[in-house]
Amino acid sequence: MKKNVVVLGTQWGDEGKGKIVDLLTDKADAVVRFQGGHNAGHTLIINGHKTVLHLVPSGILREGVDCYIGNGVVVEPEALLKEIKQLEHANVDVRTRLKISRAAPIIMPYHIILDQLREKAKGGKAIGTTGRGIGPAYEDKIARRGIRFGDLFDPQRLKDKLKETLTYHNFVIEKFFNSTALEFEKIYQQSLNYGIKLQQMSADVTAELHQLQNNGSSILLEGAQGSLLDIDHGTYPFVTSSNTTAGAASTGTGLGPTDINYVLGITKAYTTRVGSGPFPTELFDSDGEMLAKNGVEFGATTGRPRRCGWLDLVALKRAIQMNGVTGVCVTKLDVLDTFKYIKVCTAYQVGDDIIHDFPASAEAWENIKPIYETLDGWMSHTQGMTEIHTLPKQAKALIEKIEDYTGSSVHMISTGPDRNENIIIKNPFDCK
Ligand code: GDP
Ligand code: IMO
Ligand code: MG
Repeated sequence: MKKNVVVLGTQWGDEGKGKIVDLLTDKADAVVRFQGGHNAGHTLIINGHKTVLHLVPSGILREGVDCYIGNGVVVEPEALLKEIKQLEHANVDVRTRLKISRAAPIIMPYHIILDQLREKAKGGKAIGTTGRGIGPAYEDKIARRGIRFGDLFDPQRLKDKLKETLTYHNFVIEKFFNSTALEFEKIYQQSLNYGIKLQQMSADVTAELHQLQNNGSSILLEGAQGSLLDIDHGTYPFVTSSNTTAGAASTGTGLGPTDINYVLGITKAYTTRVGSGPFPTELFDSDGEMLAKNGVEFGATTGRPRRCGWLDLVALKRAIQMNGVTGVCVTKLDVLDTFKYIKVCTAYQVGDDIIHDFPASAEAWENIKPIYETLDGWMSHTQGMTEIHTLPKQAKALIEKIEDYTGSSVHMISTGPDRNENIIIKNPFDCK
């Protein structure tokens, strides 16, 4: 049965999207990234062998699956070429299987410099970006002065656009940040060179996806980051610069909203966050340390330690609503194996008020205290379990709590980092 499935994160990223996308590609004909850029770090572990992908979709390790980078993704050519090279070293044929939208904005060298200069200037108020130029590249897109992938193959058009854009950014770099202007000719030649190396992969991705659809193929749309990092719906301003929620799967590919049949919302059984910003359930005690240690919580892109805390059901419920989630996937359940008790946040206290909703204003985040329900831990080994009936009753109780609170069903549970460590209750591609 033909089916298009969106897989996305419901928290602040790193929910295990890469692992789940890779797993589900056994039923997909194509995988497409629709937003974000190489700020993403998606880890795939297949028979103990680890691969971390940043821009290349997580379908690349499944032979016969086509991979696409949609118009909603910001592409840094140098990073893409590096990733392709690494995959080719591992005998993965990328060039014949990866197609990149000609409408995708390019991350240029000045975007990376601006991202870093801005973060530095913010000092203690920095967002803690990945420093990859993501924000400035999306700004140029919205300002209608961005350079797109298709521009790399038209020397005159590239020259004209780059001249105008670079003049503008150099003014900011020199006059506002007191830093050194970038040289036009160097960037121009470098960009032309990227164009030569990447042109064979350029495509009208929207047209190809519709063709696939018409041929009865199933497409998996791979989200990056997480819903709470969404530019509109996240913990603004401590967010990324794209829409990370399900609507972007349509705008970032050119598939229509009604072409999407299923949205899988992934949540860890606890919470992590990299970078600054509100995190009501963050832990600073030995429980937090145990989550970080058991979960090996270090960023897959920057290597930074991830902040850890309990599962926030209030935030999860909002994410499920915003994304129109069809089914939930709970990952890293095994990380809780050694906990005597497990807490889940079911409300927030703001001053004297108890609220059950995600606060609307950024300022409200500062005074939020989580209100917890405490569940029994199971204190036994669940890693690698593949059958729901083998789970300890306390683990089942946690899953039921998530379902009861959010009103959404858990369709998958991940019990370890390897491709095969899962309990599949309902496969998204098989759901009616
Ligand atoms: P993504 O950005 O959402 O793809 O997630 P990351 O790859 O950045 O981070 C998830 C990390 O958790 C990776 O190191 C995965 O190998 C690992 N992981 C994924 N699922 C599980 C799981 O069920 N159990 C454990 N222990 N690790 C997992
Ligand atoms: P995946 O796809 C976790 C965070 C950064 C920072 C904020 C803005 O692996 O889940 P940016 O460089 O995007 O302007 O940084 O967003 N961030 C992520 N955190 N996982 C990610 O991707 C992230 N991508 C960006 O840490 O707080
Ligand atoms: Mg990640």
